[in-house]
Amino acid sequence: MTGGVPEVLRTLARSARRPVVLTGAGMSAESGVPTFRDAQTGLWERFDAASLASPDAWNTDPAVVWAWYQWRAGLVRRAQPNAGHRALAEWGERTDLRIVTQNVDDLHERAGSVVAAHLHGSLFEPRCSVCGTPAGPIEPLTEPVERLDPPPCARCGGPIRPGAVWFGEPMPTGPLDVAFDCARTCDLMLVIGTSGVVHPAAGLPVLARESGATVVEINPDPTGISHAVDHVWRTTAGIGLPALLTD
Ligand code: OAD
Repeated sequence: MTGGVPEVLRTLARSARRPVVLTGAGMSAESGVPTFRDAQTGLWERFDAASLASPDAWNTDPAVVWAWYQWRAGLVRRAQPNAGHRALAEWGERTDLRIVTQNVDDLHERAGSVVAAHLHGSLFEPRCSVCGTPAGPIEPLTEPVERLDPPPCARCGGPIRPGAVWFGEPMPTGPLDVAFDCARTCDLMLVIGTSGVVHPAAGLPVLARESGATVVEINPDPTGISHAVDHVWRTTAGIGLPALLTD
C-alpha cells in the first residue's frame, strides 16, 4: 500500500493507455446529492426514488414527478464537484480518459471533464412529453414542494417532462453505442459509485473484462458486480480517486 492506495491499483492507473470510468450516483454522494438506493430525506422520505423515475409514476401523477426532478435539479445546481470529480478531470488532462456516467447531474462537466456518454440523460435537458421538443432552460426549485405542474410545451402545449431516462424506457442509442465502444476498447475500467443493478450499464464492466480490460470497483460497499471485477477497493470516490490519481 502507498498512502492507503493498493499498489496494484496505482500501477494499473499509471500504465493505463485507454482508461474508462463508469460512474453512478455514489460519485456525487460526497457533493451532497443523495444516491438512488439510499434513503431519501425530508419531504421525499416516503417516496422511493426508483419508483419516481418511471413512466408509471409520470402517467399516474406528473406533478409529483416533475416536483421531485426540479427539486433534484435545484439540489445539483447548489452542489459542487467533489475531490473525486476533480481528480478525474485532472487525470483526463494527462490521459485518453473517457467517462461514461449514469448520473443525470453535471458535476463531471463542472469539474472540467468531458463526458463521453450520459447513459440516463440529464436533469437540465427537459423536453416535451408529447412532441419531444427541447424545453430550454427551466429554473429549478430551491425549496422542495410535493407537487408542481409541468410547464406546457411552447410548440404543442404538451406537458414538459424531465430529460432523464426512466426505468423501462429505451436508452438513447448514441450514448449507448459510445458506452459499448468504450467498454470494448479500454484497457482499464474503474467502476465508481454504482450499485451495478441497472442494465445495460451494469453489463459494461463485464463487456470490458471480456474484451481484455482490467476492471476495478471503487465503492465503500459490496455491489451486484463486485464478484465480476478483477479488483475491489472499499473506499469512497472523494477519498480514493485523489489518492489513486494524484502522482
Ligand atoms: P445507486 O443509488 O443504486 O447506488 C449508489 C452506489 O454508490 C452504491 O453502491 C453505494 O454503495 C455507492 N456509494 C455511496 N456513497 C459513495 C461514495 N461516497 N463513493 C463511492 N461510492 C459510493 O446508484 P446507481 O448505481 O447510479 O437510473 O443507480 C443506477 C441507476 O438507477 C440510476 O442512474 C438511476 C437509478 O434508478 C434511472 O433513473 C434510470
